[in-house]
Amino acid sequence: MEIKIAPSLLASDFLHLESEIRRAEESGADLLHCDVMDGVYVPNISFGFSVLEPLSKITRLPLDVHMMTVCPDRYVEKLAMIGAASVTIHTNAMDEERTVRTLQAIREAGMKAAAALSPKRPAEELVPFIGLVDMVLVMTVEPGFGGQSFMADMMPKVREVRRMLDRENPACEIQVDGGIASATIGQAAEAGANVFVVGTASFRADSMAAAVSGLRRAAEDALRV
Ligand code: DX5
Ligand code: ZN
Repeated sequence: MEIKIAPSLLASDFLHLESEIRRAEESGADLLHCDVMDGVYVPNISFGFSVLEPLSKITRLPLDVHMMTVCPDRYVEKLAMIGAASVTIHTNAMDEERTVRTLQAIREAGMKAAAALSPKRPAEELVPFIGLVDMVLVMTVEPGFGGQSFMADMMPKVREVRRMLDRENPACEIQVDGGIASATIGQAAEAGANVFVVGTASFRADSMAAAVSGLRRAAEDALRV
């Protein structure tokens, strides 16, 4: 599967969002990962539509929106309106029926739908949603904050999710998010992830372009051996 690098806007300099987005575009990144946090589903508040809407008008990068909110179903229409490319909701944010309906609504609105598993959530939790998603996000840190350490103990879950998808939904991609850097991306790629969210190790690198191409190379190298 195609390796995709998705810089996480959460690690950018919010005083200079437009130039930060240009930096991401020029780095060769594939997607722009946008973390929406409501202070309830996670113990932190990030940004919402007042930031995403103007940003969506100026960037050519597909927006990959990671909803860390208790009622993500409220925002599907608005996400479609701003032209989000993909929307990720957590499996435990709402009950099963509402999660099913929301994933369907995301797809019906023309966006890619993704389900996210926080570190404590097992792979089996995906079963009711497996045919409804274009991507599964396996969190490699507790959601809520950038700059945390990569949880290598999530790799067996990535492998398990890949095996489940190969049986039921082989075109579905696996994304990892949290602590991804040149020292960790290889093991995630080897385990079966192909979409890599990178906050600190992209926006906070001396050269974002060098960081993005280095990360891509590290993921490809891990797959070659
Ligand atoms: C954490 C967010 C991440 C975060 C990753 O809840 O979902 O997208 O920005 O940041 P790093 O790459 O610094 O761990
Ligand atoms: Zn994220």
